[in-house]
Amino acid sequence: MTRHAVTGAFGYSGRQIAKRLLECGYEVVTLTNKPPQSELFGHAIATYPLTFDHPDDLAKSLNGVDVLYNTYWVRFNHKNFTHAQGVQNSGVLFDAAKSAGVRRIVHVSIANPSENLPFEYYRGKAEIEKKLTTSGIAHTILRPTVLFGRGDILINNIAWTLRRFPIVGYFGKGDYHVRPIHLDDFADLAVKCGTRQNNEIIDAVGPENYAYRDLLRLIANAIGTKNLLIPTPIWMGYLVAKFVGWIHRDTFLTLPEIGALMTDLLTSEAPPTGTTSLKQYLYENRESIGKTYANELRRR
Ligand SMILES: NC(=O)c1ccc[n+]([C@@H]2O[C@H](COP(=O)([O-])OP(=O)(O)OC[C@H]3O[C@@H](n4cnc5c(N)ncnc54)[C@H](OP(=O)(O)O)[C@@H]3O)[C@@H](O)[C@H]2O)c1
Repeated sequence: MTRHAVTGAFGYSGRQIAKRLLECGYEVVTLTNKPPQSELFGHAIATYPLTFDHPDDLAKSLNGVDVLYNTYWVRFNHKNFTHAQGVQNSGVLFDAAKSAGVRRIVHVSIANPSENLPFEYYRGKAEIEKKLTTSGIAHTILRPTVLFGRGDILINNIAWTLRRFPIVGYFGKGDYHVRPIHLDDFADLAVKCGTRQNNEIIDAVGPENYAYRDLLRLIANAIGTKNLLIPTPIWMGYLVAKFVGWIHRDTFLTLPEIGALMTDLLTSEAPPTGTTSLKQYLYENRESIGKTYANELRRR
């Protein structure tokens, strides 16, 4: 049986990729900082630690692996983790994969990464892509915009905000775009890319593209809230985001994330790779979306 490895199989996108791989009949191992979670996959997935400070152990964990699906990254700088570590650790992981003889890496990046952007997240992602494309390992680089579906953070927490505050602001004019892709479509694409031989870079995007203020209205209509949506200066929106984060002991939204959103980095002109409609998903799940806050830091 062909063995595949997924970083973060108990996390958000990694879990769905691992599920698809198991359904395809592959043997699956995961590299993660989390303890084994038998309630998710029973004992079907062997769990190894993401030991970036022991590259030889990482390589041993990847022994016999045909394809590595890499979701590893850190969303923001924090006292316990940084983008810079994320870049360095990704390089260690690729080197370990190479020395273990991994045939292919399906790497999850982000739409519109660039070393010239003022956002460390996007510069870091560009740096990691470069490490992979020059590594000599066959690869697919997947560039999603925003993922939605069970357990997502962004769409859920927008809905959470709309459920709780009668007046909700959008930054500036709200005319920048978001083109989300459903988690299942994304996982299907990732698994398909694992079977290929060529090197490729693909924007992973869904069929719909929304101006941000229209996205807020769409979510509000779906969950049945009657919010007043108003243009808001960045500093004011950020203060509210800080307050929400403080209540939940989380980081709700960072200034670079607001900047990236407003620079139109969460969209793409590429042909759709997913078919699931966000609108349909919202209406089908209107009872549950945003009922509880999705806490990034609690997942760590
Ligand atoms: N979610 C989105 O909407 C979205 C949009 C665009 C691009 N992406 C990209 O998609 C990839 C996967 O995203 P995801 O939402 O599925 O991520 P996730 O499940 O939260 O995490 C993916 C992996 O990164 C590790 N990780 C995350 N934060 C970490 C931290 N602070 N310190 C140490 N390890 C950390 C996780 O470790 P554990 O295994 O220990 O949990 C897991 O292995 C990322 O590369 C992200 O940039 C996501």
